[in-house]
Amino acid sequence: MRKVYLVGAGPGDPGLLTCKAFQLLQKADVVIYDRLVSAEVLGVANPAALFIFAGKLQGEQERIQNEINALLLEHASDNKTIVRLKGGDPMVFGRGAEEWSLLNKHGIDVELVPGISSSLAVPALSGIPVTLRGVATSFAVIAGHRQNLKPQEWTRYLMVDTLVLLMAVENRAAIAVNLIKAGRNREEPVAFIERGSTDRQRVVTSTLTEVARGQVNVNAPAVFVIGQVVRMRRHLKRLVNEAIPASPIEVTNVRR
Ligand SMILES: C[S@@+](CC[C@H](N)C(=O)[O-])C[C@H]1O[C@@H](n2cnc3c(N)ncnc32)[C@H](O)[C@@H]1O
Repeated sequence: MRKVYLVGAGPGDPGLLTCKAFQLLQKADVVIYDRLVSAEVLGVANPAALFIFAGKLQGEQERIQNEINALLLEHASDNKTIVRLKGGDPMVFGRGAEEWSLLNKHGIDVELVPGISSSLAVPALSGIPVTLRGVATSFAVIAGHRQNLKPQEWTRYLMVDTLVLLMAVENRAAIAVNLIKAGRNREEPVAFIERGSTDRQRVVTSTLTEVARGQVNVNAPAVFVIGQVVRMRRHLKRLVNEAIPASPIEVTNVRR
């Protein structure tokens, strides 16, 4: 039976690949990879493999997804190792289930290899736990792109302690405005972690108000964390002796 491995690449550091993902990449014949898969992760794959870039451009997602589907159907194989490699975990905002179902419909077997999702690992690597005893007992992972911007929808997140937003850099100010309107504490601490787990990791901390005012500069890709757990970063930083700037908007390049 023809088969495709649907594999999570983790947040960028190849050391965060699962053993299974690492082994599959080493013997891969074809690697079809997304925009957020790092060069370092691709670097561990079989150099003789055929590498096919399948990154999506803003506004062209549907056309490119159709092309990716066609590529998957074309390369699925019963004797070669075909790896469909996606950033983080394929089932977290990664269209993994859609590709899996499409392949099954065409009689192609799929083996899923979960990856470490940026939604949990990227905050953790910057010293922000998404839960913390006595501070946060719940968290939600939310897509921050345009479809999710209807103001009334943000009330549903009022009771959740920690909000983790992916794909939210472009709409960060509107998201912050909507959350404040919905009743979220305007002084709540926030963090943006750019390119988490890589050498280019950069962390910006601020408050929901500052983000709503459009005063926080961030570059994608970044994970946007909202909640009291962001304060924990300061305590963990003290443990490793990092300097803490006095400004309300704090930027750190140090990779933890
Ligand atoms: C389409 S979603 C895919 C999420 C992925 N499946 C996962 O589980 O991490 C892409 C978003 O994930 C976040 N992201 C992924 N990798 C990241 C990283 N290394 N650093 C910061 N954000 C990252 C960004 O918010 C980005 O816009």
